[in-house]
Amino acid sequence: MKYGRKILETVEGYTPGEQPSDPDVIKLNTNENPYPPSPRVIEAVRALGVNALRRYPDPLCAAFRAECVRRYGLPGPEWVIAGNGMDELLALALRAFVDPGDHVTAPYPTYSLYEVLCRLHDCVLDSVDLDASFQLPEAFYSLPGRLCFLARPNAPTGVSVPRAAVERLCRKFPGIVVIDEAYVDFSDDHCLDFPERFPNAIVMRTFSKSFSLAGMRVGIAVARPELIAEFVKVKDSYNMNAFSQAAGLAALEDYDYMRENAGRVRSTRTWLRNDLLALGFDVPESQSNFLLARWNGTPDARALFQGLRDRGILVRYFPHRLLENALRITIGTDEECAALLLAVRALVGA
Ligand SMILES: Cc1ncc(COP(=O)(O)O)c(C=O)c1O
Repeated sequence: MKYGRKILETVEGYTPGEQPSDPDVIKLNTNENPYPPSPRVIEAVRALGVNALRRYPDPLCAAFRAECVRRYGLPGPEWVIAGNGMDELLALALRAFVDPGDHVTAPYPTYSLYEVLCRLHDCVLDSVDLDASFQLPEAFYSLPGRLCFLARPNAPTGVSVPRAAVERLCRKFPGIVVIDEAYVDFSDDHCLDFPERFPNAIVMRTFSKSFSLAGMRVGIAVARPELIAEFVKVKDSYNMNAFSQAAGLAALEDYDYMRENAGRVRSTRTWLRNDLLALGFDVPESQSNFLLARWNGTPDARALFQGLRDRGILVRYFPHRLLENALRITIGTDEECAALLLAVRALVGA
């Protein structure tokens, strides 16, 4: 006797990156920030006190959303919703805008959670391969669908499509366009102005990467009030706990601290990419806090992944189509990346 829903017989579930218990591991596998969050975040969480444990949190996260309005210059709090990480908001977008059986579109390769969420929601994901430079192919703009997922910068490529491409997509696509800006603070530009310009645009952000708060689970979605109202209908009443709300607020209040850390990550990214290119890797220019390093030599990418692992360095290897010869390497501190490079040199015999 099987008790699970029929659809679950064909769904594997998302495989998150490994979280090792050994503190000495150099962890460059899940795109976390190598630097701690702002000290103001720690203070804010400590200051909450027992009542924050005893009572339900604010269901609509008013203080945090008000700070989002201030920081990002949004027209008002009805333009933003907060969530238990962006992953929750991605799932809520399907719940709010897509019926089972409907079509959803996304490029390939991209954040693999989109596909898992679509299967769990019993909708159809039409994915179209990106071109050789990881840009949207012409065919992508004429797809029908209720919702389109577009990560910008994309994962695991690190490449951003031009703003003009997103603009064209918002104009042509008949449904909702979710612009996933998880890595945007490491980028040269963003699309946060799109919800005001396009009625179908939703911009999502996470505090897991640039704000160093992956453990807290903080995400936001920005869209027109009528879209945000649909999110509110389908979310759990208390979807964001009191500690995450306070942490998100304090992190935004110390925005310059985040900008400084993001700047450090960007400079490490530049030299690491140059050194990997010099070793013969093919590394597209990244707008995020990771590099996709493609390798056609020996040993192959899977063996490199394993060799690094044996040396206590975790990176990500995806056994997926078009990614078989690639490692995704999160940008760590300069010291961590230097250790990575030393190990890679030894493994490829350079
Ligand atoms: C493209 C993309 N979107 C969203 C997320 C999830 O963010 P969160 O930690 O807020 O759930 C990730 C996390 O790796 C990601 O890579």
